[in-house]
Amino acid sequence: MAPSPALPDPALVVLVGPSGAGKSTWAAARFRAEEIVSSDALRALVGSGPADLDASIDAFDLLERIVTARLSRRLTTVVDTLGTDADRRRRWLGLARDAGLACVVVVVDTPVAEARRRNGLRDRSVPAAVLAQQHRRHAQVVPALADEGWDLVVTVPGSGGDVGSGGSSTSSGDSLSTGADPPSSPASGERRSSQGLRIVLQLSRFPWGEDPRTWLRDVALAADDAGLAGIAVMDHLIQIPQVDRAWSPIPEPWVTLGLMAGLGTGLDLGTLVTPVTLRPAGVTAKAAATLSALTGGRTFLGLGAGWWEREHAAYGVPFPPARDRLDALEATIETVRALWGAGTRPYDGERVSLPETTCYPRPVAPIPVVVGGTGTRSLRVAATLGDAANVPSTLPALDDHLAVLRGHRRDVAVTVLDLPTIGTDRDDTWARVERLRGRSAAAAYAGRTHAGTPAQHRDRYAGLAERGVDTVFVALADLEGPDDLARVAPLAR
Ligand code: UTP
Ligand code: MG
Repeated sequence: MAPSPALPDPALVVLVGPSGAGKSTWAAARFRAEEIVSSDALRALVGSGPADLDASIDAFDLLERIVTARLSRRLTTVVDTLGTDADRRRRWLGLARDAGLACVVVVVDTPVAEARRRNGLRDRSVPAAVLAQQHRRHAQVVPALADEGWDLVVTVPGSGGDVGSGGSSTSSGDSLSTGADPPSSPASGERRSSQGLRIVLQLSRFPWGEDPRTWLRDVALAADDAGLAGIAVMDHLIQIPQVDRAWSPIPEPWVTLGLMAGLGTGLDLGTLVTPVTLRPAGVTAKAAATLSALTGGRTFLGLGAGWWEREHAAYGVPFPPARDRLDALEATIETVRALWGAGTRPYDGERVSLPETTCYPRPVAPIPVVVGGTGTRSLRVAATLGDAANVPSTLPALDDHLAVLRGHRRDVAVTVLDLPTIGTDRDDTWARVERLRGRSAAAAYAGRTHAGTPAQHRDRYAGLAERGVDTVFVALADLEGPDDLARVAPLAR
């Protein structure tokens, strides 16, 4: 949720600047009202108004308590005072350090004449002598900041009409403008974002109400309109606790994908991931080959070893030990490839022998096998037998997984599953965090889901692209219907 690409988040942000410099205006354009702790606002709460200096002691008493409480919860806190008190700055810095938050000072610089002019326009202006004293003090404070141990000291101009513009270290603020982004190009066979990523919606929840067919159709059409590269459907028998309640609908994926195939979109369709325990390998090969025929070759197959014992027990499906399931993963990859191969001849492979490989309809294009899992052996299987390896997008674990995968095969294709909180702006993002976080602390949930605007997710995706990631599977914890694709669309541009 960084307020601008150059500012860390969550963070302690201490404003420094004389009266009328534009501190409150700068903060209000970038942060949620609840994130800004302002001595003037607190004076107004405990005194007669923002300029009630008699209320200062009470106001600062509250300010310190609020700053302490917020920082201890690792919540972004913008301290809006003149910022000239070194002891207070040191205390806030210490609290933020203890909480592991980034520490930023924002110096709001406005020419004295301009500050004086604005001061004159105010309802209750600061006496000229006081303002002059503030500017002298400000000039002394600014050089001292460099040695106080802040992670970042940013100077922003407090003047000029455009209060949304950035400063010397910040750029454009968290604008949702898409003007700089090239249009999506659905016509060009393979859909990639301007960052070079394939963005695929992973459908894991299905709040379709009374009309599953319409819901699925509208979500798929919206994903197609948004220029996404595809849709992946989760493959489980009971809704998993990480996503929703056990009694929430979780449809059989191949049937579901069949409906979507009938829509004639440009989306690639497949599963993420199909546990090899649920169906005999050949039946999975048959389903994927059929989908390939129905989509004109736009099909992929996600495969994993399976992990959720409960769904197996409930459906009377054997759930062998991990070692056997991983053996089955290897054998499944071999089997599906054998059945998708040309002709009908007998197959005698490393792990599998088949008397014939008669599989019609045949896939009309190669079906990439995306192997999911982060265990040592899953990663090896993915790199050596799969067409792509799917791992979580979370850093720094992703870098470890990439190193392991590339150790097995230098040019392995990597896809990631990303579980972002995407909000249209900072307020919307935070409202979503608050709604979704369950029993997690808000800051922890926001951090885990990289809560932010589409522009901020794009900044993060640039890092994924730099690491050589090919595809991002995006799953929204708050996907309700087709309208939610508007929040994903900017990622695909
Ligand atoms: P602020 O009220 O933001 O200043 O702007 P401040 O630094 O927080 O001041 P104190 O310390 O609380 O007194 C002061 C005036 O300047 C205008 C604002 O609308 C406000 O009336 N302003 C601010 C601009 O005209 N342009 C700007 O870029 C910023
Ligand atoms: Mg102010």
